[in-house]
Amino acid sequence: MSRVRSLFFCLECGAESVRWEGRCPSCSAWNTLAEAPPPDRGSEYRSGPTEAVHAEPLGASSELESRLSSGLPVVDRVLGGGFVPGSVLLLGGPPGIGKSTLLLQLATGMRRAGVEVLYASGEESRAQVAIRGDRIGGGADELPFLASGRLEDVLEAAEKSGPALLCIDSIQTVSIDGEGAPGGVGQIRESAARIQEFAKRSGTATVLVGHVTKGGALAGPRTLEHVVDVVLQFEGRRAGEYRFLTSTKNRFGSVDELAAFRMTESGLDPVDDPSGLFLTDRPEDIGGSAVAVSIHGTQPILTEIQALVSVSRFGAPQLMTTGYPSRRLAILLAVLEQRGGVSLGNADVFLNVVGGLRLTDPGTDLAVIGALASARFDHPIGAKTALVAEVGLGGELRGVTRAESRVRAAKRAGLDHVILPATHREALGTVPGVQFMSEIRELIDWLRPK
Ligand code: TYD
Ligand code: MG
Repeated sequence: MSRVRSLFFCLECGAESVRWEGRCPSCSAWNTLAEAPPPDRGSEYRSGPTEAVHAEPLGASSELESRLSSGLPVVDRVLGGGFVPGSVLLLGGPPGIGKSTLLLQLATGMRRAGVEVLYASGEESRAQVAIRGDRIGGGADELPFLASGRLEDVLEAAEKSGPALLCIDSIQTVSIDGEGAPGGVGQIRESAARIQEFAKRSGTATVLVGHVTKGGALAGPRTLEHVVDVVLQFEGRRAGEYRFLTSTKNRFGSVDELAAFRMTESGLDPVDDPSGLFLTDRPEDIGGSAVAVSIHGTQPILTEIQALVSVSRFGAPQLMTTGYPSRRLAILLAVLEQRGGVSLGNADVFLNVVGGLRLTDPGTDLAVIGALASARFDHPIGAKTALVAEVGLGGELRGVTRAESRVRAAKRAGLDHVILPATHREALGTVPGVQFMSEIRELIDWLRPK
């Protein structure tokens, strides 16, 4: 008989290792390996097919038709059309952001629409959840609720009532008899595996709430991401009223969509057009601020990009970014120096995407260049201008996707001037307020204080 040996899992990237190491061999993070019993791999193979296997035409898949609407169009869009039966979703986010509120709202709404739902909470008592139910406008009284985090209880209740949607709040409070304290890596992996098995076998769409702490210190969600089908993230500034739901993994849809909500006194309110939300409180006449328009799925979103350039105090200059890839910033800085003729010398450079959005759309390049140049000249761009273009290494402005819808979003948000790559001139024709440019030198000349 082979000896059962523990395995180690990286809390950051989920990679497996047979021995403990100070540094994860896969993602190079320090001190992130945690010990856990090995998963029971044999069972995957043992539970082989019991009926004759036969292939079916691809078109026979009924997955799309059988999607379960969440009841909120904005959430359905993020999901790629609704919940897929038998799938497991992880709803992650920092404590207090509104995960339980969102899930209770969805569960209540779906229940009202006639969907069988089961809501299990190991976090809060029946009374606490009932109070939240009242706050979000009632209707939760009828919701089948289980105040337990014991996995055996939850799955037994689910077997009995056969819900189409099972909500488990949260995975960190799920416990399995004889498996140690809830929240540990081993518990979470084992629970996730059993939940996954139940979901697939019964066709239940299952949502797991998962807390994510800033340092990623909590065991779980990072490791879980590999097991689940969909990872949703709920985030936003805690002090602010806006919350954003995005997906970082979706086996059944795109990961670009974004749903915005306002946290009100009576629950979360979906925002139908979030395109201009991130521009609130924008300083009007400060150098270093530029408006970008990025595309999220099909939605254009306007954001403010802020740059600060200051003389480096200690030796080597620093590059710090929030919400923007630092490598991309390093490239754009080089392009600005070499092609735009704007030297930042030995300065520290800070770049911030205001509002907490993470930008990956190359169409925001020009706004980053604009923010940097404007910071360097200490000269404002003007509050009513948006900069939209990908920037090539030659300093040339390259075309972007959905140029026209970006222009429309900018106008809806009250801007009256959009700079676009000249490539779009033909397709767009003359649109009032749109200015075409071919290379960043033109932008620098336009920006430079006269
Ligand atoms: P909650 O859903 O409990 O967060 P999580 O499950 O992510 O930890 O929501 C927490 C915050 O939301 C709490 O500070 C109160 C606030 N809130 C409202 O502002 N309005 C509401 O209607 C509800 C239910 C909560
Ligand atoms: Mg909660």
